[in-house]
Amino acid sequence: MTQTRPASDHIDAMLHEDRVVAPSADFQARARMGREDYDRRYRQSLDDPDTFWSEVAGQLHWFAPWQEVLDWQPPHAQWFVGGQTNIAYNALDRNVARGLGAKTAIIWEGEDGEVRRFTYAELLAEVKRAANALTALGVEKGDRVTLYLPLVPEAAIAMLACARIGAVHSVVFGGFSVSALADRLNDAQSKLLITADAGQRRGALVSLKANADEAAALAPSLEKMLVVCRADCEAPMQAGRDVWWHDALAAAGAEHEAAPLDSEHPLFVLYTSGSTGKPKGVQHTTGGYMVGTYLTTQTVFDLQDDDVYWCTADVGWITGHSYSVYGPLLNGATVLMYEGAPNHPDWGRFWQLVARHRVTILYTAPTAIRSFMRQGDDFPARADLSSLRLLGSVGEPINPEAWMWYWRVIGSERCPVVDTWWQTETGSIMLTTLPGAHPSKPGSAGLPMFGVEPAIMTRSGEELGADDGGLLVLKRPWPSMLRTVYGDDERYRKAYWGEIEGVYFAGDGARRDADGYYTVMGRVDDVLNVSGHRLGTMEIESALVAHPSVAEAAVVGRPDDVKGECVVAFVLPQGGYTVDPKELRAHVSKEIGALARPDAIYIADALPKTRSGKIMRRFLRQIAAGRSIEGDTSTLEDPSVLERLAATPSV
Ligand code: WT7
Repeated sequence: MTQTRPASDHIDAMLHEDRVVAPSADFQARARMGREDYDRRYRQSLDDPDTFWSEVAGQLHWFAPWQEVLDWQPPHAQWFVGGQTNIAYNALDRNVARGLGAKTAIIWEGEDGEVRRFTYAELLAEVKRAANALTALGVEKGDRVTLYLPLVPEAAIAMLACARIGAVHSVVFGGFSVSALADRLNDAQSKLLITADAGQRRGALVSLKANADEAAALAPSLEKMLVVCRADCEAPMQAGRDVWWHDALAAAGAEHEAAPLDSEHPLFVLYTSGSTGKPKGVQHTTGGYMVGTYLTTQTVFDLQDDDVYWCTADVGWITGHSYSVYGPLLNGATVLMYEGAPNHPDWGRFWQLVARHRVTILYTAPTAIRSFMRQGDDFPARADLSSLRLLGSVGEPINPEAWMWYWRVIGSERCPVVDTWWQTETGSIMLTTLPGAHPSKPGSAGLPMFGVEPAIMTRSGEELGADDGGLLVLKRPWPSMLRTVYGDDERYRKAYWGEIEGVYFAGDGARRDADGYYTVMGRVDDVLNVSGHRLGTMEIESALVAHPSVAEAAVVGRPDDVKGECVVAFVLPQGGYTVDPKELRAHVSKEIGALARPDAIYIADALPKTRSGKIMRRFLRQIAAGRSIEGDTSTLEDPSVLERLAATPSV
């Protein structure tokens, strides 16, 4: 059983955390950037952004130069206006041209232990063939291509091939369900779906192709399906629609010139949950995203020529886009990709991977760190972790206890830990410490990255001072920011720039201390963060009420020692039906994905509502966490509902 403790305990621990961990003299001496350098460049990035960003962008290749660094028509920004570039060209051709052709770009390890390696020259050759194959399948510049793949090298190759021809990729996490995939295919109006026969997870095969077929039947825009053979190539293929990846690449030419694309040409759409309605297609463009991920990967991870860099995120999430694929490859780094589960065949797998591939930089999520911590120190102790020199954390607030364990047991008190705060929407890291420049404070993300001007505000836009908790906002545009919500610019304006006048509203609560360090406390909207993944409570509620046995549903988060937060559902049965919790969980998995499956279900006879009919989730959160009811219950239509709910055991 999962132990729980109130969210306030976590926050309390963070507020009273006063440990400071400084980088070693050794690390500082070798680091790319020190404190003074950071201060000077950060200042310049705010005072003279044109010079700052021109200098960074100028390190990359442009087919045509930009005329203007930023055109800001709030809330719409264009960066490197008029410039033409190509992110795949910059990640591959450019690196081969500067002598990195023989350097390893990707080391991939499958869950079954198979290892594949690609040098920069080999990766470029694959991407060129894949680009030709996409064109042969009728994909044109601007067309949307959906990827539904396991974490195999072909996922990165397919993303880069899309970028190379100017097709817009939309990666859907392989753990998402048929209907989640179908919704995303339809929203993006994708022409092509790239999937695989199956993926491996904890020793079992997960048939992606079967899901893809079901989703395709619901997605009229879809014309073709490209299928990577990951398992046995036995998946049924629909004549005229489906093509094997290996056949398509074998038939494709080896030569390909990257398309010069406008800096603002869309690069990808990535769906993420918001507080209301269906997931939003977060739209990123070429030039600014490229410059942002290039600079942050280089500085935050202090990239050196001989690093072996491992970001454990799946490419289905933004972390996988920015820090498993684009950022490190733009920098010519050697990237490790691992396909499977962290506990297969046992909880030592990550540490064996680090030892086997001599990983120097590890970037993972607090939820993973907490799971490892629970397994004790023996698994890491059995592996040689001496190659590690830098650790990173991302996806949710990291509790100081997990931070200290990561630093002590994984990093042997030798490796700096960077806690990076950012979002799907920000495209790249916004708040962090730089490992050679700043001491870390466990639980606190740290300082703003270049060009980022954060503030803590009240709902009405009043700026707060040091140590006051409030809403985290960003006061000016940055190159890798989202440009719009795909197909719904109104939602973009409202959700991000309309909540508080004139600033970007992140949806997180935070505070800044006297040293300027930001501690991010978590979402202030109806978005849950389960194991570092975003889920909207409304999405789960609509899945629940779509089941015939459920008349009404309310979903809240409950603090969880491993997942950070878990899903708790309150459901009212439909007259004449009984709710079967097992079936309901399976239903939510089917509608959204296993991530969204409720950990606890309360079968209720009523929900706490105001007289105007609004569900008071605040009280449901207290009940879910097993806390006593606090706050004014007098606005409730029937306060006795709370007592009955609190006395109801969850199932
Ligand atoms: C939300 C964004 C950014 C990549 C992965 C998640 C939370 C993310 C941190 C951190 C505290 C964090 C925030 C944010 N979050 N990193 N270091 N400390 N909270 O991307 O799915 O778009 O989720 O994750 O709540 O708003 P995402």
